Amino acid sequence: MRIRVAGVEDLPDMLVVEKGCFGSERFDLRMLENILSDKEDESFIVEDGSGTVGSAMIHHKTSLGRSRIISLAILPELRGKGYGRATLEFLEDRARAKRSTIMELEVRVINVAAIDLYLTSGYEVLGTISNYFGKGEDAFYMEKAL
Ligand SMILES: CC(C)(COP(=O)(O)OP(=O)(O)OC[C@H]1O[C@@H](n2cnc3c(N)ncnc32)[C@H](O)[C@@H]1OP(=O)(O)O)[C@@H](O)C(=O)NCCC(=O)NCCS
Repeated sequence: MRIRVAGVEDLPDMLVVEKGCFGSERFDLRMLENILSDKEDESFIVEDGSGTVGSAMIHHKTSLGRSRIISLAILPELRGKGYGRATLEFLEDRARAKRSTIMELEVRVINVAAIDLYLTSGYEVLGTISNYFGKGEDAFYMEKAL
């Protein structure tokens, strides 16, 4: 697999990943364009030999020494092969490169796979945010010291 910086030419693939991986809270074209154009954000495409397998986005709050995972997604049919963990480690390296000492994220409380990935990668649940992903869709707030 390889992870590379995403550009506007990747928007169609990014939309496919969003549609395949997220429900009503998925990013639409305008949101993805905003992320791609934000200087404090970085967007990446995850590929294997046959094409796009996922995407990832991160926001760097450089002045605070913190980075935040905006999105990490692997297409359903390609999960369980280690792509998600490898992409998370890649994002952590990007955060360290920006001199962040903390990585933070929000994850839906029922997202067992993602929570397990984060817990086994050293993240801690520091709180619960009610209705973060919409009515009745609570999130765990998680952090890791990098
Ligand atoms: C979370 C996600 C990125 C994991 O991607 P993946 O490529 O399947 O992950 P990996 O194969 O690298 O597995 C890494 C770890 O995730 C956890 N995990 C993955 N699938 C799991 C499952 N079905 N049940 C429980 N834990 C699971 C495990 O801890 C696993 O480590 P292990 O293989 O040592 O047990 C993927 O499930 C996904 O894209 N989900 C939808 C989008 C999403 O919810 N993203 C997170 C938003 S915060």
